[in-house]
Amino acid sequence: MATDDNLSTALATGPLKVVGRLVDSSNNALVADLEVAGELRRVVYKPAAGERPLWDFPDGELGRREVAAFHLSASLGWDQVPLTVWRDEGPAGAGMCQLWIDGGTPDDYISLFAPAAVPADWLAILQGVDSVGAEVVLAHADVVELQRLAVFDYLANNADRKAGHLIVSEGDGIARLWAIDHGLTFHTEPKLRTVLWGFAGEELPRTIAIDIASFLERFGDFERSVSAHLPDEGLARVNARARELIEVGRFPAPRDDGPAVPWPIF
Ligand SMILES: Nc1ncnc2c1ncn2[C@@H]1O[C@H](COP(=O)(O)OP(=O)(O)O)[C@@H](O)[C@H]1O
Ligand SMILES: [Mg+2]
Repeated sequence: MATDDNLSTALATGPLKVVGRLVDSSNNALVADLEVAGELRRVVYKPAAGERPLWDFPDGELGRREVAAFHLSASLGWDQVPLTVWRDEGPAGAGMCQLWIDGGTPDDYISLFAPAAVPADWLAILQGVDSVGAEVVLAHADVVELQRLAVFDYLANNADRKAGHLIVSEGDGIARLWAIDHGLTFHTEPKLRTVLWGFAGEELPRTIAIDIASFLERFGDFERSVSAHLPDEGLARVNARARELIEVGRFPAPRDDGPAVPWPIF
């Protein structure tokens, strides 16, 4: 069994054997295998050269933001992002490398329902019509995993929290929610676009406020782990948003100066 450090080092420097391409990836993400302490581990490898340029994010930097997102989740103590590292070298050049999560769709956390079928304790987000004209409601569960993710997305300024970027793994009979695809994060302008608006304006649970406060106390550690990947201004904004969350004591609400949900939502 590899230790966390061994695993990070292996992901960052071990020889990758590319075994496939993710057909639904807009950034030419590849699937690769890697041997770690005698075990074969599967990873996602996104070479910077494969990134599709965007008008509002710097070119070739999205993978670095994914590494920073991993450190943010780990620094909050929530560990919802699979281990993600930066590789200076790889079969298709420098890029990010992330552990593959064997899992399924997050139907127990977020889903579409007929209006009358939304579970009583779920939070409805959007109403619309589907491709055959039937009324549908997008709703998500009222659970701590999604509360943490909503806060994480706000801190990371995630512009792309789709339902399809959630994976649920089952290990020892315990379901675990994972979040992936964090390239569109840490912009200096507010860009939060998410499907997790069910908590908007609600009071932050005490345990979450405590986690944010303790993250702020150890902000220097976070800064050191991501300074190679994020511009100083992007980092300073994370700190400012964390302080603001504690001060306001409530989950953020949608802004009125831009789209609040990503498209498509899945
Ligand atoms: N760490 C991972 N574990 C399992 N599946 C993943 C992982 N990362 C990506 N995927 C799968 O690959 C697809 C494309 O990856 P994504 O991160 O969305 O790439 P892109 O940057 O191109 O949007 C995801 O929708 C998901 O199905
Ligand atoms: Mg994607």
